[in-house]
Amino acid sequence: MKVGVPKERLAGERRVALVPEVVSKLTGMGVEVLVEQGAGEGALLPDAAYAAAGAQLSREAAEVWRCDVVLKIAPPSEEEIAMLGQGCLLIGFLAPLTSPSTTKALAQAKATAIAMEAIPRISRAQAMDALSSQANVSGYEAALLGAEHLGRFYPMLMTAAGTIPPAKVLVLGAGVAGLQALATARRLGARTTGYDVRPEVAEQVASLGASWLDLGLEAAGEGGYARELTEQERERQQQALTEAIKEFDVVISTALVPGRPAPKLITEEAVKGMRAGSVIIDLAGEAGGNCELTAPGEVIVRHDVKIVSPLNLPASMAEHASQLFARNVLALLELIVGEDGQIHLDFDDEIVSGACIVRDGEVVHDGAKAALDAAAITGGVS
Ligand code: NAI
Repeated sequence: MKVGVPKERLAGERRVALVPEVVSKLTGMGVEVLVEQGAGEGALLPDAAYAAAGAQLSREAAEVWRCDVVLKIAPPSEEEIAMLGQGCLLIGFLAPLTSPSTTKALAQAKATAIAMEAIPRISRAQAMDALSSQANVSGYEAALLGAEHLGRFYPMLMTAAGTIPPAKVLVLGAGVAGLQALATARRLGARTTGYDVRPEVAEQVASLGASWLDLGLEAAGEGGYARELTEQERERQQQALTEAIKEFDVVISTALVPGRPAPKLITEEAVKGMRAGSVIIDLAGEAGGNCELTAPGEVIVRHDVKIVSPLNLPASMAEHASQLFARNVLALLELIVGEDGQIHLDFDDEIVSGACIVRDGEVVHDGAKAALDAAAITGGVS
């Protein structure tokens, strides 16, 4: 069996789906690995390191896309999917809930495709959880971005020129990224506070030395995720946050509801209420942003507050993000590669059935199907 690793072509994507460390593990399992030349360049992983780990290198993207299994990190373009060989298995982030055109192209290519973001969040699949591994990178980077953009220190400083109080950092959405942002900001000396609509995370927030902002609103949904708030709840939340946010130097927002636009937590009114020079790091830019004023991908100043909305933050720490992703993929391959060194997809296994979105050209994932249907209704994908 041969595994192919194409070079990522999406603008700004510096990660790569396999790193040399994991190549050696795969070759040790008897799997051949074909890497497109320069695939690791963005993460400063040279071709020579892949070759030394036992990979073959190819100049031809088309050859790599014809391997039995193709490993990607960013969702593939339609041109890339067109290169996928008949009967090949594609594994990567495929955005099944938000990119119906990807699902449609995969179905048309008669592909079988596993979406890393659809792997069920059960204990047995923890080592495969690429959403978490990449969210950890985002949370860490978000805390650093907050420190970089703030014209104030995070830690308390006692100097000959007097004392500087510690910065107050509020994290909205205490999922994987939010918890990592809280931990990182605290390590840098900030005074931290966390907020979420899932009350069970209050304990995790406290374990990171942060205070818990209680607004008396609960919205736990399915599968451990939050549900979308009702109109009334949203208004209540926005009002309460407008009042609370005034106190903070940095607000890092990470709130997401799978497949839905990001909840608007920070209104223009709330931004106006913040002290001049304060910073908002909005990690939800790809889903429209948690702040009303966010311009996805840009750094803007409104009402003397800096609003930063980085896109694809994991790509900015490409080496470790790639390493963690590659380990997630390895854990998945260990599940689906049999002793004969071939792929065996057991659809009675909830990990395989939950994560496979297209099987031999048929869309088999409920969320992907619903997104396709919705897009067909609105004319997005015919
Ligand atoms: P996410 O990226 O979908 O959302 C980020 C956070 O935003 C979540 O904590 C969510 O509750 C919060 N949020 C959504 N709407 C909000 C609103 N209106 N106001 C405030 N906060 C809001 O979440 P993530 O990081 O993917 O984690 C989702 C769940 O999966 C968590 O319960 C996490 O503990 C669980 N999980 C389970 C794993 C496992 O068992 N293998 C591994 C990783 C995560």
